[in-house]
Amino acid sequence: MTSLPPDRVGYGRILPGDAATVLQAVQLSKHFRHRGRRVVHAVDDVDLELQKGRVVALVGESGSGKSTIARLLAQLMPATSGTILLHGEDARVRGQRAFRRYVGRVQMIFQDPFGSLNPVHTVRYVLTRSLRIHRGRLRGDELEAALAELLGRVQLTPAERYIDKFPHELSGGQRQRVAIARALAANPEVLLADEPISMLDVSIRLGILNLLRDLRDRLGIAILYITHDIASARYFADRTMVMYAGRVVETGDSESVTQDPKHPYTQLLIRSAPDPDDLEARARGARGEAPSLVDPPSGCRFNPRCPFATEVCRTETPPLMPVGEGREAACWGYSDRDDRPVLGSVLDTYGERPAIDVSAILDGDAATEGARP
Ligand SMILES: Nc1ncnc2c1ncn2[C@@H]1O[C@H](COP(=O)(O)OP(=O)(O)OP(=O)(O)O)[C@@H](O)[C@H]1O
Ligand code: SF4
Ligand SMILES: [Mg+2]
Repeated sequence: MTSLPPDRVGYGRILPGDAATVLQAVQLSKHFRHRGRRVVHAVDDVDLELQKGRVVALVGESGSGKSTIARLLAQLMPATSGTILLHGEDARVRGQRAFRRYVGRVQMIFQDPFGSLNPVHTVRYVLTRSLRIHRGRLRGDELEAALAELLGRVQLTPAERYIDKFPHELSGGQRQRVAIARALAANPEVLLADEPISMLDVSIRLGILNLLRDLRDRLGIAILYITHDIASARYFADRTMVMYAGRVVETGDSESVTQDPKHPYTQLLIRSAPDPDDLEARARGARGEAPSLVDPPSGCRFNPRCPFATEVCRTETPPLMPVGEGREAACWGYSDRDDRPVLGSVLDTYGERPAIDVSAILDGDAATEGARP
């Protein structure tokens, strides 16, 4: 059992021994060596906690390190530093067998269901293979029952309508349901869903999120939901973590983070929804480029784009600080130091935008999508 250092324990941080906690990351960092000696600081000092039957959203613009965190948690690559704990125990796998066991408990769902399903294999082949890897050699009626149960869990019923189809015979939403069923064959405790709806038609996104929500509630699965769309995080996630340039800048319950954002970057992100690219364009136009992760800005990484930055922001990295019940923001404006920056309205600088509108991203009634022929 790996014990946590005392300063990692407490308000809004990792709470060891919480029975609901399934997967934790403590001070997780990943630096990639790039073009010889250059180092990309993709993820720095991230703490994260996934609990049974709860969804955590990881939100941020492109390149902020979201997928890197998912790949680290899936142990598809080693961390540069930090610890991953599964039920409080060091989860680092050594060897193929230990990795197989880990994958049985922590499964990933990818953005592109077409890319992640082999086009030459039927649904039956894909699901049978996953069942046999994770549950042993099922045969005959037992196998048929397990296949039907899996398809039922992802609302692809009746099973015989889908079981012998190839990926190209299914819609994008149906393919993503098959990918989710394949993950469920392992009976996982954790799903790491990396932008699971971003490549799907707007009209079927809600159906996939509702399915994941149902799995959270019925099976008690802990879900990490990675997204560009802070509006969908508000709809779907219990907690939201906002990332900027490899660091977490704000965390809290999704409703508070999206309705009353504290960090200047989160405020900007929300006012840019539902078009996250607009954020980059407007912020760049107003205040320089998005930061290089090879040579990230010193101090607060947001300081070159922040209208409130002062000397302390340029020299010292702000830790996550309490900004309300169960909430934290990494901004010196919330500290009690004398030289703290005075925060104002970020919108005065970047311009007011309408408040986020979930329906713009999650439109349509997809509840029946799975049953479509
Ligand atoms: N294998 C790699 N080698 C070198 N650099 C990498 C590698 N994987 C990711 N990076 C870099 O790490 C940073 C974070 O990438 P990551 O894919 O985690 O971002 P992201 O938030 O998922 O972005 P997106 O929203 O576009 O998917 C980027 O600068 C990326 O170029
Ligand atoms: S005020 Fe300073 S610490 Fe806060 S977001 Fe702006 S640059 Fe970062
Ligand atoms: Mg990504």
